[in-house]
Amino acid sequence: MHRVEEEIARIIKEIGYKEVEDLFAKLSGGKRLRAKLILKIAPLHPKAPLLAAVVELIHAASLLHDDVIDEAMLRRGTPSVNATEGSKIAVMLGDILYSKAFSELVEFDKEIAKVVSNSVTALSKGEMMDVKMAQTFNSDETNYLDMLYLKTATLIEAAAAASAMLAQKDVASHALFGKNLGLSFQIIDDILDITSDETTLGKPAMNDYVEGKCTLPYIYLYHSLDAAAQERLLLSHAKKITSQEALWIKAQLIEHKSIERSFELALRLSNEAKEAVKEYPELVAILDAMIQRSY
Ligand code: FPP
Ligand code: MG
Repeated sequence: MHRVEEEIARIIKEIGYKEVEDLFAKLSGGKRLRAKLILKIAPLHPKAPLLAAVVELIHAASLLHDDVIDEAMLRRGTPSVNATEGSKIAVMLGDILYSKAFSELVEFDKEIAKVVSNSVTALSKGEMMDVKMAQTFNSDETNYLDMLYLKTATLIEAAAAASAMLAQKDVASHALFGKNLGLSFQIIDDILDITSDETTLGKPAMNDYVEGKCTLPYIYLYHSLDAAAQERLLLSHAKKITSQEALWIKAQLIEHKSIERSFELALRLSNEAKEAVKEYPELVAILDAMIQRSY
């Protein structure tokens, strides 16, 4: 991983703007899930660390923009850039990171550049759908999963496919692995938003629903409730709710097994991903660790 960090540091330095270096140094790198995947799929390829750096910079840029869009004050347990520097700086820092990452993409074959750049268009479409869907209560599971795929799974899918291309491994099975890993990861994230506390999450708990995001557990819950309870659930959508109402929602989510059902889908997707890469135990281990995270 230190070769990835070295590439990232070189790229940031090349931007040639002290302000950017300082701001970037304050960002938490996070789990570097996408970089780890790339290194595991193409461990011997000399360009794998650069590909990993490019993908991590794109991811960092998307989170900077996402926190502006979501008006989120915390990211990975520390104040977001928009909280400390304002939205204008956060947007521009995102633009710098992601355009610089794109410049680095020219070092790769056309097919690799295409798969990564197409995923950024998909990512942005997904984010826009997320914004639109949060404006009203969305109770459609398919719409939700389509948005989730675009918003979070496509960059992981692209990272897996692009590194398989580098390593001359089977692209389709690695892409499926990446896609299902991404979907499953996000569904677990949605569950943790409900079941974890603020200290563990690094952001307020049950924040998705306050932000208007009807994640899978809420969609399942809605369809299990009677009309009166559905109305009560809708009343809390996209607003700050009292802790009493939050407790009621949480109790309903448990009673109607909405969390369990969401977890079952995450598990099914993860098992499909495992099947796709069963001859690579180190990739299977990533999925096992991810499922473990939810306990
Ligand atoms: C987090 O979702 C958001 C994303 C993973 C993608 C955001 C994508 C864009 C803003 C498109 C622009 C892309 C670039 C490269 C500039 P979330 O809000 O559900 O998760 P969170 O709880 O981590 O904030
Ligand atoms: Mg967000």
